[in-house]
Amino acid sequence: MQQFDVVIVGAGAAGLFCAGVAGQLGLKVLVLDHAKKVAEKIRISGGGRCNFTNRDATHEQFLSSNPHFCRSALARYTPRDFLALVQRHRIAWHEKHKGQLFCDESSEDIIRMLLRECDAGGVQRWHSCTVHAVRHTAARFELDTRAGVVAGARLVVATGGLSIPQIGASDFGYRLARQFGHRVVPTRPALVPLTFDAAAWAPFAALAGVSLEVRIATGEGKGRGEFLEDLLFTHRGLSGPAVLQVSSYWHPGQPILVDLVPHLRLSEALREAKAARTRKHLPNELAAWMPARLADTWLALGVEAEGATRGAQPGSGPPYKAAVPPALERPLGEIRDRDLDHLAERLHRWSLVPSGTEGYRKAEVTAGGVDTRELSSQTMESRLVPGLHFIGEVVDVTGWLGGYNFQWAWASAAACARAM
Ligand code: FDA
Repeated sequence: MQQFDVVIVGAGAAGLFCAGVAGQLGLKVLVLDHAKKVAEKIRISGGGRCNFTNRDATHEQFLSSNPHFCRSALARYTPRDFLALVQRHRIAWHEKHKGQLFCDESSEDIIRMLLRECDAGGVQRWHSCTVHAVRHTAARFELDTRAGVVAGARLVVATGGLSIPQIGASDFGYRLARQFGHRVVPTRPALVPLTFDAAAWAPFAALAGVSLEVRIATGEGKGRGEFLEDLLFTHRGLSGPAVLQVSSYWHPGQPILVDLVPHLRLSEALREAKAARTRKHLPNELAAWMPARLADTWLALGVEAEGATRGAQPGSGPPYKAAVPPALERPLGEIRDRDLDHLAERLHRWSLVPSGTEGYRKAEVTAGGVDTRELSSQTMESRLVPGLHFIGEVVDVTGWLGGYNFQWAWASAAACARAM
């Protein structure tokens, strides 16, 4: 039986980073993964350019049922620390909007960097290696694997979440947590497109591809998420950064509230345009502030519609074609102020109730996970089973879109590795 100081299950972002740090601190480390290729999620991340961190990351951009848990690790291993490592490896990078840092060339640069760090620490890496069972004796953990039995004084679980099962995601981490008496906060897809009942979405389906900046919100109190980002209409519902962000806060049955014209007071703008005696028709006037296709569809659906768009409206029927009703296909000057106000109010406060999400198949991350109340925030070690650690996405810590989830992977891995 081969023996190690540390056995890490999962050679993704957190597992590889933890292995490199621990190895370079002098520990004998094995990191194993059931997938043929390691770090597949890094490879596909950020559209192939890996948004590897966010310059502005603090604990405030993370969801967890124990919101302060991630604070310590994030403060002790910061975006600046990871950026310094990226620069040491001479990886070219750039900043996109809102502090998001990406590779100039390819996500492969980050993977190569992590593997080099592992090599520098003498880390052993086993791929295509399934773990069949894990036992804990007084002094160590024993793992029955496809490559035989291995033992580690410490066991680090870095098997990630459930999203994108086709590239190796599994529920191993949650099962192992439960095996050792840990609670798991119920999991759900997050950073995921939202969907609507097909028949009811029909009027909006023709808008697939239309994108605009919106203010979007859902939830209440501490569970409220609000973002100013781009929204994208799709054939099945809504996507784009705005919707991915808010999806992490959304629970079935809850409405989402969308302000389609977040940068102006639309009623004032319409009244001013009317006062200026414009001959423009309402759809053309609206098209100055939002995509014309959306303006037409919106007017065609009827500004008088009340209440939340539950799975959208106006219901089933033949394929929908936007046609602005005659009452609104008129010069602005001929439309009553109160109708303009009402239209503005609806565009500022579009309320919709999604019927679901695109699920783990399309989700970037998994919300929920190993309950942090039974882990040390300093070391990621179990409070129930000494020597057992959980890091990365398998833990109930979920970041916003924009490099935060990788920063959590690096920070939780560093906290764990330095404590072993
Ligand atoms: P990760 O998923 O990286 O690694 C887990 C590893 O465990 C995998 O290699 C898997 O094969 C292995 N494993 C699972 N079950 C196992 C088992 N039973 N036995 C052995 N091994 C097992 N985040 C971000 O900050 N910026 C970004 O640009 C993106 N982009 C992005 C795009 C897409 C399409 C997705 C799906 C996700 C992102 N993310 C992201 C999220 C980010 O990829 C994610 O949060 C981290 O990879 C999580 O790191 P972990 O190491 O915890 O899990």
